[in-house]
Amino acid sequence: MNEFDQFVKHKLNVKHYFRYTDDFIILHQNENYLKVLLPEVAEFLRERLKLNLHPNKVILKKLRQGVDFLGYVVLPYHRVLRTKTKRRILKKVNAKNLQSYLGILKHCNAFEIKQKILNKMSKAEELEKLKKEMEADKSLPLLGTANLVFGEGRPDAEIIFIGEAPGFHEDKLSRPFVGQAGKLLDKLLAGIKWPRESVYITNIVKRRPPENRDPLPEEIEAYKPYLKKQIQIIDPKIIATLGRFSMNYFLPSAKISLGHGKGVIIKSKIIYPLYHPAAALRSTQVLKELENDFKKLPALLDANRGGPELLKSIENVKAEETIPKAPAQSSLF
Ligand code: URA
Repeated sequence: MNEFDQFVKHKLNVKHYFRYTDDFIILHQNENYLKVLLPEVAEFLRERLKLNLHPNKVILKKLRQGVDFLGYVVLPYHRVLRTKTKRRILKKVNAKNLQSYLGILKHCNAFEIKQKILNKMSKAEELEKLKKEMEADKSLPLLGTANLVFGEGRPDAEIIFIGEAPGFHEDKLSRPFVGQAGKLLDKLLAGIKWPRESVYITNIVKRRPPENRDPLPEEIEAYKPYLKKQIQIIDPKIIATLGRFSMNYFLPSAKISLGHGKGVIIKSKIIYPLYHPAAALRSTQVLKELENDFKKLPALLDANRGGPELLKSIENVKAEETIPKAPAQSSLF
């Protein structure tokens, strides 16, 4: 492309020209000048370099509308990040690449995203600390027989999925929902265009009960302070419970056959009961219901982002006051 640079600068005498790999920008105050220039540029690329300008990617616009370049939107007096770039950074940032992302942010107005990144990083650190605390807690049940499956996902996720307890595969890999039920969960998430990495997934009890038996009340009680802390750190907008145990942890008197797909607002969060994916693998009817309930999730999240009033207007969401309250409900997170 050096030949092209020479052509633009010296043959066409363009003063304000910037190029990075195959993206380039020409700035000029006269729109007609640019319109005349364009065919000459296209011809040079075609004849000399055997390259074609992509018709959808040639954009003629005013500088004050902002120019997309290298992940930034360049405006006359300042630079901001493109929305897409912001989303990518927020998704990918971790302890290893933090400094290089902060470097990118230095070149633009990025106060808000910087706060979000630091928030995510501090949540990641807090979760790591909590995990270490759990590993060191020798009073926890199931310690001798199974590995800790702490949970995984975005530390600042807006939704947390909570199952009952790890199974065989989860215990082996120390990761939640990685067996058949996990594969279905991934598929359901993909169906609403929420990648697994964009949410947080964990369980009520964080070690596998022998032979996958139901978790005992005392096991749930012992792991409760850790789940509570985990929810406080992540501070999600939706807590989606997977299966009866997880649902009854938050809504002790609810019945899964009646309560699934119906959210309950507790302390500004929506508790959203879902069937357990393992149950959906055993019954096509349950699978259908689970798929339907999943489809409601994006709208539910949007509503909760919009605040409590909007939320109350949403079908299938009840305020906490309208359901019988269990004595310990307020201390769940
Ligand atoms: N079932 C659960 O409840 N949790 C898992 O992590 C896997 C299967």
